[in-house]
Amino acid sequence: MSTPKQFDVVVIGAGPGGYIAAIRAAQLGFSVACIDEWANAKGGPAPGGTCTNVGCIPSKALLQSSEHFEHAGHAFKDHGIDVAGLSLNLPQMLKRKDVVVKQNNDGILFLLKKNKVAFFHGRGAFGAAVEGGYTINVSGPTTDTLQTKHVIVATGSNARELPGAPFDEKLILSNTGALTIEGVPAKLGVIGAGVIGLEMGSVWRRLGAEVTVLEGLPTFLGAVDEQIAKEAFKLFTKQGLGINLGVKIGKVTPGKKDVTVEYTDAKGEAVKAVFDKLIISIGRTPNTNGLNAEAVGLKLDERGFIAVDDDCKTSLANVWAVGDVVRGPMLAHKAEEEGVAVAERIAGQHGHTNFNTIPWVIYTSPEIAWVGQTEQQLKASSVSYKSGTFPFMANGRARALGDTSGMVKFLADATTDEILGVHIIGPMASELISEAVVAMEFRASAEDIARICHAHPSLSEATKEAALAIDKRSLNF
Ligand code: FAD
Ligand code: NAI
Repeated sequence: MSTPKQFDVVVIGAGPGGYIAAIRAAQLGFSVACIDEWANAKGGPAPGGTCTNVGCIPSKALLQSSEHFEHAGHAFKDHGIDVAGLSLNLPQMLKRKDVVVKQNNDGILFLLKKNKVAFFHGRGAFGAAVEGGYTINVSGPTTDTLQTKHVIVATGSNARELPGAPFDEKLILSNTGALTIEGVPAKLGVIGAGVIGLEMGSVWRRLGAEVTVLEGLPTFLGAVDEQIAKEAFKLFTKQGLGINLGVKIGKVTPGKKDVTVEYTDAKGEAVKAVFDKLIISIGRTPNTNGLNAEAVGLKLDERGFIAVDDDCKTSLANVWAVGDVVRGPMLAHKAEEEGVAVAERIAGQHGHTNFNTIPWVIYTSPEIAWVGQTEQQLKASSVSYKSGTFPFMANGRARALGDTSGMVKFLADATTDEILGVHIIGPMASELISEAVVAMEFRASAEDIARICHAHPSLSEATKEAALAIDKRSLNF
């Protein structure tokens, strides 16, 4: 056997957690290798993980394209733009999405090279614990053996299957199949009204599908502030998304060209629905497949995640894990923050991830974004708080855009006025939430935001006005 290639740090997985950890470790002066097995259609490397290949990036590309299509069909008329002969070119829409994905894959390969990270295309698996570290075997397109002091595991997650309804990606689709449907289905079923269900359901509804979402829980978007979730439910159902809460899914039977879902609705009535395609989006499970964690005794928790402490340290010395494969929200930016923090800890620095200021965004139309505590969480923990809301209806820029749905909501401590949570449903909520994240990182009060000059006319004035509303002194509502 050839001598293993020596590195200070080996990162397994090049999703947002892994490739960012690798770059930060290289910036800090370590010799770094990054292994990733994702292959593109031609069998070449496709770093970027779920996020780049079948998650954040392609879903946002399709959300943007489908929103343009919907605007051209509906909103443009209102702006005095008549579009004659509007038609959908779905193959081109999917092709554009693939180009956007490829640009991101290539960009990551470039960044790894620029930072002198050695990239290995293949599966990384623990070999053995050896003097001073670990051996890692690479198999697949590249075969190699690496030796390293530190290992960062960033192997991500996979879509959770519904028992009895395995994904075939033809009729029963995970997020992967949901991003590549070749013809708009007349009837699309979606099991799970979570983030993927709502985003992908919105894409295909905008393109013409009749979408029925079946959700097991009796409440809609339970993790979202109740007032915002209520508004979202109202707006999404008005758009034509059929959302059925409190259902109990029974048998799922794929036929030749369609799939039948038997379920009990909230009233207890048995329903048999036939869909052309069925997306199952009921959460994701950590991916430790093929890692050979047993070889070195790496501990998993009871839910299959790699067990880590607050610093992303695993049960083994100098083995770290970040991103979807460990506890916490399954978000790309959370994975990235953990990746940076771990690289800095390896260098003896004090990397830190503040879980209380991780923003969430659901890229529906309108978008939903939030950071910090919801009103129901504050009630449950008996924190006394003040609330202030401002509707986009009263914002000049939103009126000019023609998108006045939703609101900004501030929650602040009743005594200190410290901002405890900010919740937005409305246009560009994904961008607006950044101001709230910065404010919370600096432990700002609502009055701090209320006293900052915001450009006019801008959507961000709604943020200032919601902060003013905390003390019942909104100026434009
Ligand atoms: P991943 O991105 O899953 O990357 C893990 C990588 O490791 C993969 O490339 C995999 O091939 C590789 N790998 C696994 N095992 C091995 C092995 N043994 N050897 C070599 N390589 C291996 N999050 C957001 O923040 N915003 C969004 O808008 C958003 N949209 C999403 C939309 C969809 C449809 C989905 C499914 C997810 C979305 N997410 C979004 C979640 C986001 O994609 C994940 O949180 C993020 O990708 C997690 O990053 P990660 O690095 O932990 O893992
Ligand atoms: P999710 O956790 O967001 O939603 C799953 C939904 O399915 C829940 O509402 C749950 O109650 C429901 N459910 C579970 N089992 C069910 C059953 N048997 N029958 C009916 N309903 C059932 O999970 P989702 O949508 O699969 O997404 C996974 C994760 O990916 C998200 O939690 C998020 O972390 C990440 N993601 C993030 C995005 C973003 O940041 N914009 C976009 C898409 C995904």
